[in-house]
Amino acid sequence: MSLRHDIVIVGGGGAGLRAAIAIAETNPSLSVAVVSKVYPMRSHTVAAEGGAAAVIKDNDSLDEHFKDTIGGSDWLADQDAVEFFVKTAPEEMIQLEHWGCPWSREPDGSVAVRPFGGMKIERTWFAADKTGFHMLHALYQTSLKYSPITSYNEWFATKILVENNRCQGVAALDLRTGKVETVLAGAVIMCTGGAGKIFPFTTNGAIKTGDGMGMAYRAGVGLKDMEFIQYHPTGLPGTGILITEAARGEGGILINKDGYRYLQDYDLGTPLEITDPDHPVKKSMELGPRDRLSQAFMRERDKGGTISTDGGPVVHLDIRHLGEKLIDKKLPFVRELAKNYAGIDPVHTPIPVRPVVHYIMGGIDTDINGATQLPGLYAAGETACVSINGANRLGSNSLTELLVFGGVAGHAAAEFATNNPDLDEAALELQGVDEQQRIARDFINKQGGTERIATLRKEMHETMEEGAGIYRTDAALRTTSEKLVELRERFANLLIEDRSLTFNTELTSALELDFMLDLALAVAESGLARTESRGSHQRTDYPERDDANFLKHSLAFKTIDGVRIDYKDVVITKWPPEERVYGR
Ligand code: FUM
Repeated sequence: MSLRHDIVIVGGGGAGLRAAIAIAETNPSLSVAVVSKVYPMRSHTVAAEGGAAAVIKDNDSLDEHFKDTIGGSDWLADQDAVEFFVKTAPEEMIQLEHWGCPWSREPDGSVAVRPFGGMKIERTWFAADKTGFHMLHALYQTSLKYSPITSYNEWFATKILVENNRCQGVAALDLRTGKVETVLAGAVIMCTGGAGKIFPFTTNGAIKTGDGMGMAYRAGVGLKDMEFIQYHPTGLPGTGILITEAARGEGGILINKDGYRYLQDYDLGTPLEITDPDHPVKKSMELGPRDRLSQAFMRERDKGGTISTDGGPVVHLDIRHLGEKLIDKKLPFVRELAKNYAGIDPVHTPIPVRPVVHYIMGGIDTDINGATQLPGLYAAGETACVSINGANRLGSNSLTELLVFGGVAGHAAAEFATNNPDLDEAALELQGVDEQQRIARDFINKQGGTERIATLRKEMHETMEEGAGIYRTDAALRTTSEKLVELRERFANLLIEDRSLTFNTELTSALELDFMLDLALAVAESGLARTESRGSHQRTDYPERDDANFLKHSLAFKTIDGVRIDYKDVVITKWPPEERVYGR
């Protein structure tokens, strides 16, 4: 028997919970299912550290936030979406405070903001350096107030159910029982987060395997701008744990093996330092955009300026001069992480760091309302590409994005579901049965097979890092793409040994790898087709931005012959492309 709701949200992180609350507040008679692979407070939003951007201070304006975001995106963001985003952001942030998010304060009691990379004006709200933790708590506790919201925790959605060219629900594996359940609804919102786990070294939690993107892609929906992968400049070697940009926002500096601030040798467009006696904050080259800082690291490595460690080459993030008092007040988590995972106390010793895959700018192609090309299917948060991030996201825009567009998608999906209450229940039920049979046949009951999940995943990781990392070439991307096709063929010969139906982690790893192989190929093929350099997509064989041919979004579609790449126009409302400069 199927479960029936008005709207199904897949993913219980920030975007999913914001969408659920939006629906409950708009129309309390609508029933909402939140289907989540993990307990909601384990969603990756909880790991966000540095803050969320929104205009609040007198020295700032919506126009400045707009300009920073468009420039940061290397003009690939849609300007109508960004205009809406910056306008709605402050309302969302204040709303979140009313729901219990404890924003850090200035001594006069006003909301505190900190500088962040690529933002020319300080506008990043924060809750010390545990912002995501507090935001997710505020959203979760608020969602619990609404009885129409039902949670299906530890249910892994594996398939979007489409009938009559309409998305009408999902099939989800209950991880506790091993049974596939069909959850039917007039609209579905994908809020499953990003896909950083297609790379070996990432800040992303183990759950970020791009399942939502993978499901939409298999249902025929285009994945937009998948070639744009964000490396965050400061991850801890070995683990990939994020050392927040807030450390640089508060004045931390990056030094090479000789203790030299090497960023001054690279064209980041940011001045060495601007000091303002009224503001102890120093805006500096360390607050350049993430794509350029990560690229500078690679060039410094090639010049021999980095330090070799077991976790790869590193530079040092030095925050000693900030002093213990400030560190404990504003960066307590940085201190905790550095002590626990690098074995050093940053009050006394610089932190070893290196670029780490952090965010995927691309995702499920949506319009400004979160609607996809498939009627009834919506998406929001990192899994979606609306697009406000273009070729390079500015740090602290994504937490705000999940509030703004989670809310928008919730409203839009509620309206769609209200207008489309009739479902093809019998046919959908059969699809659920088919999905149960597929999982049994291809995984749980699969006989024979010699390929290990860990081996295929490792080879996927290696080839992604090799060909689709910070710098790319035609030859390297092509090799990666061919390797991924080979891995897909070998996946058919997967060895599954665990036949258990209860929390079968071998099964979930296999299902996740299945999605990741699709997404990895979409990334490589989108990158291969974009023969220019823009933002995080740097082609050494095509080093210039090429607006004449590539001021457009890529769209990757899954076909039986592989990935088909299409394009669509970028929305430019008021600021035509210019040279991307910082620090002026
Ligand atoms: O460095 C950070 O705290 C990351 C923030 C972000 O990705 O928005």
